[in-house]
Amino acid sequence: MKKSLIAGLACLSLAVTSGAPYAVLAHPIETSATDNGQTTLRPLTSDVAVIAHRGASAYSPEHTLTAYKQAMTMKADYVEFDLQMTKDGQLIALHDETLARTTNAKELYPDRAPWRVKDFTLEEIRRLDAGSWFNKAYPDKAKTEYIGQHVPTLEEAIEFVKKHGNGKVGLYMETKAPSVYPGMEEKVIEILKKTNVLDDEKLFLESFSEESLRKLKTLAPNVKLIQLYSGGMLAGKDVYQEFKRISDYASGVGPSKELVVPKLMEAAHQNQFLVHPWTVNSQDDMVSLLSLGVDGEFTNNPDLLDDLLDKPFISHGVASGDITDSSAILWARTNGKANVKFELSTDSSFKDNTIVKTGRANVEDDYTVNVEVTGLKADTRYFYRAHAVSSKYSVNGSFKTAPQENSLKPMTMVWGGDTGGQGEIPPFKSFKAMAALNPDFFLFSGDTIYADNKTPAVPNPPSKTVQDFWAKYKENRTDAGLRSLLQKTGTYSIWDDHEVTNDFSGPSQELTPTGLRAFKDYWPISEERSQADKLYHKYSWGNTMDMIILNNRGYRSPNTQADGPDKTMLGDEQLKWLEQMLLESDAKVKLIATSVPISVPTGKANSRDGWANANQINPNDQTGYEYEFKKISDFIIEKGIKNVFFVTTDVHFAEIIKYDANKDGKTDYNELISGPIGAVKGNPGTLDPTFGPERLYAEGNFFNYGVFKVDPARKQATVEIQDENGKTHFSHSFQLED
Ligand code: G3P
Ligand code: CA
Repeated sequence: MKKSLIAGLACLSLAVTSGAPYAVLAHPIETSATDNGQTTLRPLTSDVAVIAHRGASAYSPEHTLTAYKQAMTMKADYVEFDLQMTKDGQLIALHDETLARTTNAKELYPDRAPWRVKDFTLEEIRRLDAGSWFNKAYPDKAKTEYIGQHVPTLEEAIEFVKKHGNGKVGLYMETKAPSVYPGMEEKVIEILKKTNVLDDEKLFLESFSEESLRKLKTLAPNVKLIQLYSGGMLAGKDVYQEFKRISDYASGVGPSKELVVPKLMEAAHQNQFLVHPWTVNSQDDMVSLLSLGVDGEFTNNPDLLDDLLDKPFISHGVASGDITDSSAILWARTNGKANVKFELSTDSSFKDNTIVKTGRANVEDDYTVNVEVTGLKADTRYFYRAHAVSSKYSVNGSFKTAPQENSLKPMTMVWGGDTGGQGEIPPFKSFKAMAALNPDFFLFSGDTIYADNKTPAVPNPPSKTVQDFWAKYKENRTDAGLRSLLQKTGTYSIWDDHEVTNDFSGPSQELTPTGLRAFKDYWPISEERSQADKLYHKYSWGNTMDMIILNNRGYRSPNTQADGPDKTMLGDEQLKWLEQMLLESDAKVKLIATSVPISVPTGKANSRDGWANANQINPNDQTGYEYEFKKISDFIIEKGIKNVFFVTTDVHFAEIIKYDANKDGKTDYNELISGPIGAVKGNPGTLDPTFGPERLYAEGNFFNYGVFKVDPARKQATVEIQDENGKTHFSHSFQLED
């Protein structure tokens, strides 16, 4: 059954030692159908290895035959042994250098503290009970059969796995503390030869000790060696250089799981290294690491990883978005064809009044799913969970619906943009900092990917195929912080240029349809925004705020076109719609979510990308879109539209600006700029003076995001710029006009 689920993986792997001539893939992983053919974030192998860490050590006493047997019953592909050496030079399977923790040595040999393995003969160790400690430590998992389990020798453990593994289960063994045991490596090789497994395809030797591995390389040049890394071992090192340095002996790396990020995967793949992180015991961690493309995982719970790999699962988290006072869009992605079930309720245990919606994850959408849920209560916290119907693994999320239209509730939102480009790749700390604020929602202000930049997902940029664009979104979703923010609150995503290519004008860019398709696949976009590729729409947060989301890319004239009555950024229809929204709104605050700035010159001379033409920098520069922005500015002033805030990112520094466009001494509107979350850091420069900007704050050269709070009762709107650690660098309150 599982093999039929995983399309296009017909390859077979050679069996271990004696036994079946061929073993079909035990845990094939979907890597073909929507893969862009160049991403680093995929396994080198097509069969992800379930490596039973010390046996099935979550369920039975580690390094006993019963733990090894349970691992094989749970379909582990490998059983891992840690090796110590006895006083009389015998190799045993035991993790610690002493016998105290996992045997009854203290009771049996009370005067032999500290019960170092190297101080005991094998015969003395064979008398120990290596199982009862487990029953005492984990009474809920205690079994009588564990009592009296003994410490196996390496030879015994190998023979046991050969006997019970049906020729399919491989061997993975670690030289523990080799400096304590001179001659350990020679002994290992001697036993591997004696048990006739030295030439097995499914055999790995591992160690934290480079010296030990180099010695093993000399003794047995063909054995696959895995260099283990704890957190500290890579600190301050360039992972690309480090992996290149060890490539003369290593076949792969075993990093502590928190070390696995796109950069480590890229460095590993540059050296054809397998990546086997440890120790991965929760399905959330298993999924997160699989999304990064690891080749296998050390786990105490082989059953959980086996179960996960058996069929498509939610592979890149969930999201909710385009939320109103009665509806929301829910999003998820699986790693293969599946029906995805969403359960939604105000009850976090999903016992009462649960709404169920199902979506189909299809290959043509890169297995992404968007479903709309309606009939929701306003101003209410909802909980949801999503799972691929074939899988038990589910991912939870939550969001808050907007308050009723006429209510005046305080609101807190966060906004940011510019994520994953120009040499910066995930993870980015700002997401976790924003999630910690528990905002009412997150406005992702564009450049949610950098499709045209080199990153592990697209090593040969720019993105050209939809698979390339999808790979970029998947790369950014490997960021646990982003997944956590998307899980915790509703998101309104807008696109800017790097969702397609730098500074593009939609109508004239041939990649627009492809980039737009991937953008709509990967964000919870409502039908109202998606239809006719509009993307612009107004969302109300009660009567506290109307958020007018623009589409600054889909309708614009080419940047190089000289400004004038025929040049547009928004297109006539959207411009009229914007004016209508402003005129109609009686919300305290009108937030205009734009992906480009007003008076910060962007793009380049004679090809300005924002509204400003920067002609004070280059008097001959006829480009920019000031002609059109003047219409917007004049409209706001003439119609007396109050409390207007343009919110954006795009410029790669933070800046807060108030505008007195008609120079009458009264603020006409404001502009709030944050970013980048994760892209090259810029510094503030000269503002284009056309619309009367006055800088309240500007700061560059740091990752940051914005917080915007509206308190109707106090008639105040407050903006904060916070760095990636959540430290506030600037705060300012605006007094709202009645
Ligand atoms: O062998 C991988 C992993 O097990 C390394 O840590 O301490 O559990 O042996 P440890
Ligand atoms: Ca180990």
